[in-house]
Amino acid sequence: MGENDGIVDILLLGGGGREHALLKKLASSERSGALYVAPGNGGMDLMAQPVELDVDSPEAVATFARDNGIGLVVIGPEAPLVNGVADAVSEAGIAVFGPNRAAARMEGSKRFAKEVMERAGVPTAAYRSFEEEGAAAEYVRELGGPCVVKADGLAAGKGVIVAGTTEEALAGVRECFSGRFGEAGSEVVVEEMLKGPECSLLALTDGRTLVPLATSQDHKRALEGDKGPNTGGMGVYSPVPIVTDDELSSMIEIEEKVVAQLAEDGIDYHGCLYGGFMLTKDGPKVLEFNARFGDPETQVVLPRMEADLVEAFLAVDAGTLDRVRIGWSESWAVSVVLTSAGYPGPYEKGRPISGIQQAEELGGVTVYHAGTALDARGRLVTAGGRVLDVTALGSTFEDARDLAYQACELIDFEGKTYRHDIGLRALRGRGAWEV
Ligand code: AMP
Ligand code: GLY
Repeated sequence: MGENDGIVDILLLGGGGREHALLKKLASSERSGALYVAPGNGGMDLMAQPVELDVDSPEAVATFARDNGIGLVVIGPEAPLVNGVADAVSEAGIAVFGPNRAAARMEGSKRFAKEVMERAGVPTAAYRSFEEEGAAAEYVRELGGPCVVKADGLAAGKGVIVAGTTEEALAGVRECFSGRFGEAGSEVVVEEMLKGPECSLLALTDGRTLVPLATSQDHKRALEGDKGPNTGGMGVYSPVPIVTDDELSSMIEIEEKVVAQLAEDGIDYHGCLYGGFMLTKDGPKVLEFNARFGDPETQVVLPRMEADLVEAFLAVDAGTLDRVRIGWSESWAVSVVLTSAGYPGPYEKGRPISGIQQAEELGGVTVYHAGTALDARGRLVTAGGRVLDVTALGSTFEDARDLAYQACELIDFEGKTYRHDIGLRALRGRGAWEV
């Protein structure tokens, strides 16, 4: 074995379905040693050592990693990235998966991302940014009609108001500047409304090589028929059957251009670049970039990926991604999110969960934990709004979908709520979307 082929102990930050999916894939690598998670969840804690750690603190994470001989730190969520946790871990001489603070601004500031896109010459919605409520409101009136109002900073997915009318947009501007989103709302981006199906494309990059992963499509609205408030994601599938080869090539080219632009600007992007696209009649346009894996996208992309994730992540850190080969299974993946009644509003916690084993015994089903915990008696209970992600693989889209729903029925907890129409629109084809 060469020096790069050894076993590494891994610290994974985060505690959602995305991190459970990352953990399972990392654990299946021949190179994974001891596994630590912070904060983890009811499922992750059964396969890794949970540690108490302030995951948003660069010093705390770097110190833990150094003191415990960690060889790879994997950062799931955006907040630690934007805080510079990756920078501190790198400075401690430890491999890290996740972009540094400067690169994470692609997600941390909508205005910064827009400016990079402009310089890179990639298509995105026309926009203007404002630091003052009156000027933003004036622009909204000038546009007159549908538009999208976004708080500039991180707002846990809640700082985007898709406004059908001028009145809704004005209310959105007021909401952003009201302080409801904290610092994130001190600057506001107003942009043109785009139409079409959405598509996510996650890619690994070491700042030079970009390896696109499979396409996926999230369902962000809480209610069936894509109605109701935006959520963290209610269900997802991969790949996206309605995407054409030309559209896929454009999305890859856009991401390559952005990474090259960042490099030109002196920003070295190492990690996962998540492009959120609208497939408009004029081709794919960028809705947003995230500096991390998507949640729940990861729960359908990773199960289909044929690669050693530890190798891939170490190569992203080392700048040797060009040597990594990633294959894909032929199967389709559909994942349905089981939530606590009331989500994304207030909901109850601490409800016992049953039936996960029976669901997984169907074969081809993996249940990823999101908002779960083990209570004082060791029972698995609900601990969040999004509780479980039920992912099924099938040889056709329909098979995967049917299996996922069969599995959902076997799982039980008080208040279990889910959308029954995940993937239904894609089955009806491209015509099911307004463009
Ligand atoms: P973002 O966090 O910027 O991706 O926005 C969250 C969601 O709002 C997206 O997934 C879209 O559904 C919607 N959205 C954002 N920007 C636009 C836009 N310019 N036109 C239409 N919908 C948008
Ligand atoms: N699925 C949306 C996100 O991860 O931001």
